[in-house]
Amino acid sequence: MSIIAPKQEKSFTAQFPLETFGIRHGYAEHPLFKLSAILELVKKLPRDRIEYNSGKAAVSQDPDTTPLVDLEPEEIVRKIETAGAWMVLKGIEAAPEYRALLKEALMSVATARGHKNLDEAGFESIQGFLFVSSPNSTTPFHADSEDNFFVQIHGEKFFHVYDNRDYSIASDEALEGTVAKHRNLAYDPKFDAKAISYHLFPGDGLFVPYQWPHWVKTADSYSISMAITWKTAEVRRRNDLVVTNSMLRSFGLPQPAPGQIPALDTLKVAAFRTAAAAVAPFRRSEGVRRAIRRIVLGKNANYYYRDKPKKTA
Ligand SMILES: [Fe+2]
Repeated sequence: MSIIAPKQEKSFTAQFPLETFGIRHGYAEHPLFKLSAILELVKKLPRDRIEYNSGKAAVSQDPDTTPLVDLEPEEIVRKIETAGAWMVLKGIEAAPEYRALLKEALMSVATARGHKNLDEAGFESIQGFLFVSSPNSTTPFHADSEDNFFVQIHGEKFFHVYDNRDYSIASDEALEGTVAKHRNLAYDPKFDAKAISYHLFPGDGLFVPYQWPHWVKTADSYSISMAITWKTAEVRRRNDLVVTNSMLRSFGLPQPAPGQIPALDTLKVAAFRTAAAAVAPFRRSEGVRRAIRRIVLGKNANYYYRDKPKKTA
C-alpha cells in the first residue's frame, strides 16, 4: 500500500485539504515507533521539546490547572502502561531518521495527488509530533495551527473532530488565541452532536484540517500515535499575522481582523518576520526559548518544563 492512503478513494481530491477524512498508513509495525526507539529519541531531544502531564486532564481543560505527573520523561516511556501520563515529543524531524519518514509519508500523498515533489504539493515546514499516552488518557479540546495527518501506531484512540467553518464551535477570537497563546479551547457538551468521531486502531488515521478543534481519548491500552504536520505559505502568513495582532492588542492597540485591510496585513507580516529573523539565532538556545515563552505567554507557560518533578496539586 501507499504509506498514507485514503480510506475512501476520492478523499485526496474531493475532501483534501478542506474536510476531515479517514486514512490508512504503513507505520504500525515500524521499528522507530517501538518503545525502545522512543526512549532513545527522548534522550536526544532538547528538554523543552517534551511536554507531558497527567492523562487525567479534562476535555475542557484550563491550561493553568493542567494536572501533572511526578515522573521524568524517560520514566514515562519505561512505565507507560501504568504512568497515568500523556506526553508529546515535539519537532521529531530534528532526528534525521524521523525526518526521512515524515517526508516519505507526505511524498506518498503528494504523488497520489499528482505532484512531483513536496514543495509543489505545498508540504512545507514539515514537523512531527509523537504522542505517548497511558491507558484512559485525555488530550483536552484544542486546535492546532497546522494541517495534520494523524496516524495511530499502537493501541486504540477515540478521536473527535469538529467542523468549525461557521465558527459555532470556537469563535475567530478563540481560534486566534490557540495560535498566539495556548492551544486549548473551552468545550461545551452541546458540541457533542457535531462531533465527527473516529475509533482508531493501529494502521488507521485521519486528516485534521488547519484549526479544526478536536479532543482525543485513549482506550484501555497504552497508545503511540503521530501527527505528521506541515504549513503551506498561506498558513504561515496567517499564523504570523495572528501572532502579530495578538501582540499589538496586548499593547492596547486594537487590530482589524485578518483580511479587512490587506495592505496593513502585509506590512505587519513583513515587520514580524524581520523581528523574528533578528531573534532567530538566540532561539537556538533552550534557555532563551524558555525566557521568551515566559515573557510572551506568562509564567505558567513553562508548566511542563520543570527543573525538578513537581507533585500534582
Ligand atoms: Fe491536535
